[in-house]
Amino acid sequence: MAPLLSCRDVHAWYGAFHALKGVSLDIGPAERVAVFGHNGSGKSTLLKAAVGAISARTGTINFGGVPVEPGAVHRNVMLGIGLVPQGRNVFRELSVERNLLIAGLRHRNEDLSPIWTLFPVLKARRAQPAGTMSGGEQQMVAFGMALMTRPRMLFLDEPTTGLSPVLAGTVLATTRQVAEELGIGFLLIEQNVPRTLGIVERALILKTGRIVSDTPSAALAGQQDLWEWF
Ligand SMILES: Nc1ncnc2c1ncn2[C@@H]1O[C@H](COP(=O)(O)OP(=O)(O)O)[C@@H](O)[C@H]1O
Ligand SMILES: [Mg+2]
Repeated sequence: MAPLLSCRDVHAWYGAFHALKGVSLDIGPAERVAVFGHNGSGKSTLLKAAVGAISARTGTINFGGVPVEPGAVHRNVMLGIGLVPQGRNVFRELSVERNLLIAGLRHRNEDLSPIWTLFPVLKARRAQPAGTMSGGEQQMVAFGMALMTRPRMLFLDEPTTGLSPVLAGTVLATTRQVAEELGIGFLLIEQNVPRTLGIVERALILKTGRIVSDTPSAALAGQQDLWEWF
């Protein structure tokens, strides 16, 4: 099957700093992929580049066969990239419902029923200001906002940061469940390797801007020397 996301020899820079050094990657339409690596290894930069948020970039990135243009994030998102950025990006003063509707606006999507079905807790708290929700709930709001854009693939940047182990487990399990129900895949940056290996099929390891490992997750799960890759 043709890949949905395709990166060829991608380099990215922040000023003089060379943050991605020749990343090539194909991800299929319903594939669940994790990205691991130390802080500063370039994980967020890879997601940002893939949505066009890094302007100093070379190489080719295609989504659904269409070039992802550097600097044109809003246009690129319309290709079907559902971005859940690092940190809980919600409009804190606005209700849960307003947050979701704003996210759907550019995509002409006002249908909240699938979100209520996937996240009953959000339905129960639809009128509550998003900023007063717990960390896990705000993460669900951010997730729901990405889904309102009718994505063909989700990009999630450390969605469990700051959550208790129990809530982190819930967010990861929900991520997998939602992806399966919608028939879409995701690219997920996560710090918790063992937990994440349970919900993905494939795992990448980044080190100083390069992919040093790209394997089925089952192959990593049994690997004692995994940490040496990092
Ligand atoms: N806006 C920026 N300006 C300068 N350097 C940056 C910027 N964002 C990230 N970097 C640097 O690029 C490298 C990769 O960052 P990042 O992709 O955020 O890493 P990760 O997500 O793996 O922790 C790090 O060394 C980081 O300090
Ligand atoms: Mg990061």
